[in-house]
Amino acid sequence: MSERPNILLVGIDAQTQSLLAHSLKNAVVNSVALDLEKLMEPIHPEPKIILATSPSITMSVEIAQALRMQYQIPIFLCCPMQDGFERKDFIKNGFTDAFLLPMDINLLRVALNEAIAAAGADDVQVYRSVKILDLEAGETLDFDTSVFLPGNNKYVKICHAGDEIDANRLEKIKKGKVNNLYVPSSQLQNFYQYSAKKLRKMGQEGAISATERKEKLMTSVRDLLSGMFSSQTASFQSGQEVLKTCSGIVSAYIVDGAEGEWFSRIQQIIGEHGDNYSHSSNVSTLAALFSMGTGIGKPEELALAGLLHDIGKSQLPADIQELEQDHMRPDQLEQFKKHPEMSVNLIKQKKIVTSDIVAKAILQHHELYNGTGFPHGYYGDRICKEAQLLALADKFDHLTKLKPGQPLVTPAQAVQQLKKEQVDDPSKIKYNPEIIRSLLALFPTE
Ligand SMILES: [Fe+2]
Repeated sequence: MSERPNILLVGIDAQTQSLLAHSLKNAVVNSVALDLEKLMEPIHPEPKIILATSPSITMSVEIAQALRMQYQIPIFLCCPMQDGFERKDFIKNGFTDAFLLPMDINLLRVALNEAIAAAGADDVQVYRSVKILDLEAGETLDFDTSVFLPGNNKYVKICHAGDEIDANRLEKIKKGKVNNLYVPSSQLQNFYQYSAKKLRKMGQEGAISATERKEKLMTSVRDLLSGMFSSQTASFQSGQEVLKTCSGIVSAYIVDGAEGEWFSRIQQIIGEHGDNYSHSSNVSTLAALFSMGTGIGKPEELALAGLLHDIGKSQLPADIQELEQDHMRPDQLEQFKKHPEMSVNLIKQKKIVTSDIVAKAILQHHELYNGTGFPHGYYGDRICKEAQLLALADKFDHLTKLKPGQPLVTPAQAVQQLKKEQVDDPSKIKYNPEIIRSLLALFPTE
């Protein structure tokens, strides 16, 4: 029988609770006000999961210590403020994970669902995506695999744990342009062991699977971006540190080995449920790959611009951050249009010294070839080539991300959609036709 585990909310306001309502309905919820002294005493009923908030960094350390002394259960922190947020430090202090709101709301929902499922609510199923190219047909898997049908917003099991994954079935799925399969979170460790064994068998001891590369990239980008809002006054040294982290991410997960597997890297990006961090890492990867393919700009510079292009968005009001550009009211749109400049300003504030090209590409990533973009409304080659490429990478990620209720858009379909922008009326051309032509030449025709 499925059990609804007790979850204790410490100081969580009504608005955050309503944002988490869908996850919390699978738990028995108890709320207490934030009172450090009371947290030192045993809490009844005994919680299986704790979600706490904190008004300050010092207090969050005290909360973590008070709770950790008594409980070896998942203890999460969520902070509505950005100042001083250092996820790694919170984890070091005893929290299982820490989330910055509103940016991390989806990640918090997933973490809560996973903890609720692990605490006994076996009717709650949480899936993680794995890359299909990490699986070998004809092998016995010790984890369940499912496909996600975006049209019906449904997961369908294709292979039960203990069964052999059928070659024909796998081939058919790959032909359907599916790049991700889904494994229950609780069985993810089995997948990691399987893929490590497979790489060892192929003589690639120490190599990581495509799934793990994507996950490591996502975690690094999350730590990088949420850490950028730290309140510590930025110094030349802290700016250098951030830049070093960026370069590390770019060389380890983005440009490394990408030349040899250009199209497969593009395929690995598409069709995922998107969030702020995956958008940054996807645009970074796509921009670097587009640069390699077209010879425009330097892949490392485009990757860096991709990582940082939208960081200014974090300073916009929460309601605007949640909306797609097409759904904004005119006043919200006006504010949204300031985010490229806000990104560049934040980079300066953090004393991150980038090349002029990187700053320009970020500032101009929403400019359009016909002059209808923002912030300046530049047209044609007044927009630097790197920004034009970054804008295409941004658009490509929006087109190919998984949208429940809608069929998946393949890379070839996305490129065809961009081709449609090549209309006869020059005043309607949003992207440089020459760049689109050279991109089209890089994609295999279906
Ligand atoms: Fe943007």
